[in-house]
Amino acid sequence: MASKYDDIIIDVGGRDTTTQRAALTVADVLLLPFPPRGPDIWTAEKVTVMVKEVRGVNHGLRALAFLNRADRVGGDNVAAAELLGQAEGIELLNARVGDRKAFPNAFTAGLGVAELKRPNPKAVAEIAGLYQALYGADPV
Ligand SMILES: Nc1ncnc2c1ncn2[C@@H]1O[C@H](COP(=O)(O)OP(=O)(O)OP(=O)(O)O)[C@@H](O)[C@H]1O
Ligand SMILES: [Mg+2]
Repeated sequence: MASKYDDIIIDVGGRDTTTQRAALTVADVLLLPFPPRGPDIWTAEKVTVMVKEVRGVNHGLRALAFLNRADRVGGDNVAAAELLGQAEGIELLNARVGDRKAFPNAFTAGLGVAELKRPNPKAVAEIAGLYQALYGADPV
């Protein structure tokens, strides 16, 4: 499909599966959402090992992490970002998506947060920020 589209998103489960490895052999970017919680962050170690192996066949693969379901207050976001920043071979994006009802609500409606009838401005801004961090441009 690469000849037909500018961008192709392959949504794979967050586990080391055959489908995920197959996708990574042809992907330009691995986008990794991490909640700021210990058990989730601990898997970054496994991701670094897997990415290193995959780069044996896909040299240019970039692994970009960002905080998803981030807290509104408290120090967990910073602690998680620090740990992710140390993960070898993974770049931490300067974008953060908060834990907001707007996301599951949009998901249930089969829409993006910006497409809801009354969009949550903070949720929309966060997704725009993620887009900006990924593409270096504002969403159209
Ligand atoms: N930023 C967020 N704020 C609130 N809820 C969120 C946020 N991100 C994801 N969720 C919710 O968490 C749940 C799981 O999300 P999602 O299905 O995207 O996870 P996943 O990691 O892709 O899971 P799987 O590995 O099963 O594919 C959904 O109900 C989703 O709406
Ligand atoms: Mg999923």
